[in-house]
This record gives sequence, structure tokens and C-alpha cells, in this order.
Amino acid sequence: MAVHPVRIAPSILSADFAKLGEEVRAIDAAGAEYIHIDVMDGHFVPNLTFGAPVVKCLRPHSKKVFDVHLMVAPVDHLIGDFADAGADIITVHQEAGPHLHRTLQSIKARGIKAGVSLNPSTPAATVAHVMDLVDLVLVMTVNPGFGGQAFIPDAADRAREIKPLLTPGQRLEMDGGLNPQNCPIAVSAGVDVLVVGTALFGRPRSEWPGLIDRYRTKN
Ligand code: DX5
Ligand code: ZN
Repeated sequence: MAVHPVRIAPSILSADFAKLGEEVRAIDAAGAEYIHIDVMDGHFVPNLTFGAPVVKCLRPHSKKVFDVHLMVAPVDHLIGDFADAGADIITVHQEAGPHLHRTLQSIKARGIKAGVSLNPSTPAATVAHVMDLVDLVLVMTVNPGFGGQAFIPDAADRAREIKPLLTPGQRLEMDGGLNPQNCPIAVSAGVDVLVVGTALFGRPRSEWPGLIDRYRTKN
């Protein structure tokens, strides 16, 4: 069972970029607790999305938790921009640089929550010695860079390895290829924040409240 109530973090990577503000308002109204914001640099991952100015423009559209997932390397020089833009959580990749501890310190120094993300090939133990600086661990269940990829079941095993490292208040998030069929696998591994992109934004808006409810409770 999850440590906390399960929360849903729709990934706006799969939203209609021509009307992002409207999409964020709609997913907020549908009941999502977090807004998952995927920032890609075309270097750390083979795709480009957007930067802090877009986050700043979206901020007035929702009071929900802005969960900013930085798939960027190097990343340290951008932390301030995303904090100023209104991020509530900034998650960086374990693989993004040689000084993860320093990067997390710089996020925490700005008074916001810090997350660390692991690619599917990165061992869980690599975050053991930064857990005192971490509010959230994000387990990737696809290779980051694109929405709509297939869930890698083996990657979910790392959620079970990470769970004993967590103390109350720290969250375990999973990202990539989640749908109503595999969400129960994630939740039974201890995941309490589910990122859902294609399986939500790929459906009509009228279905979003029901789907969010189903993700949250089907476990
Ligand atoms: C992948 C992103 C994910 C992705 C999730 O690099 O971090 O957040 O958009 O989308 P789906 O649910 O379509 O895999
Ligand atoms: Zn993401």
C-alpha cells in the first residue's frame, strides 16, 4: 500500500501546446493534485519542450502543485529561473551532473521542494546518500524524452528498492507509460504520485474526472 494518499500528476507534455493555459485549467478542474511539467533540453534527452518563461505564464492558471521535471544537463544554472517562475517541486535527474548533492542543496535553499529522478538503468542505491535533501523520488518507467512510450516493468522494481529509503513525508513518484491497467502495480510498489500523460490527455476532456478518480482508487 502507498504511504500517502495517491495523487495524480497529469503530464502536460501530452496536452495541446496551442492552448496550454486552458488545458492546465481543465486538468485542475478535473481533480488533478499536481501539474507535471516536463522540461527537455534536446541534449540530456533527445527532445525539446520549453523553459521557465512558459512555466511563469502557466502559473496564474492553477494553484495546484507545479511539479517541474527537469530533463536537462547541466541543470544548476536553471534552478533559480524555475523557482522564480513558480515551481513548487523541482526534480532533477541523478544522471544530470556530478554534484547531485549540491544541486539539491540549491533547490532547497530557494525554499521549495526537491526531487531526484532515476532513469530506468540507474540503480536505486545511487540516491541513498542524498535522501536528507529530498522530498520526492521520481522513478522513470520509460527512457525519458517522449510521451506515449511503453511502461518498462523491470523499472518498477526500483520503486520497491527505494521505498525503504523513504521517511514519512517523502513521496515516491512514477513516470512513464502509466495507464489504468498498470497503475495498481505502481501503487502496490509504494508509489503515491502517478504521472499520467497520454492516457489522460489522449482522451476527451469529459472523461478526465472519471479517469483521475479511477487512477487514484484502482489499487
Ligand atoms: C517522459 C516524461 C513523462 C511523459 C509521460 O520523458 O517525463 O512525464 O510525458 O507521458 P506518458 O504517460 O504518455 O508516458
Ligand atoms: Zn516527467
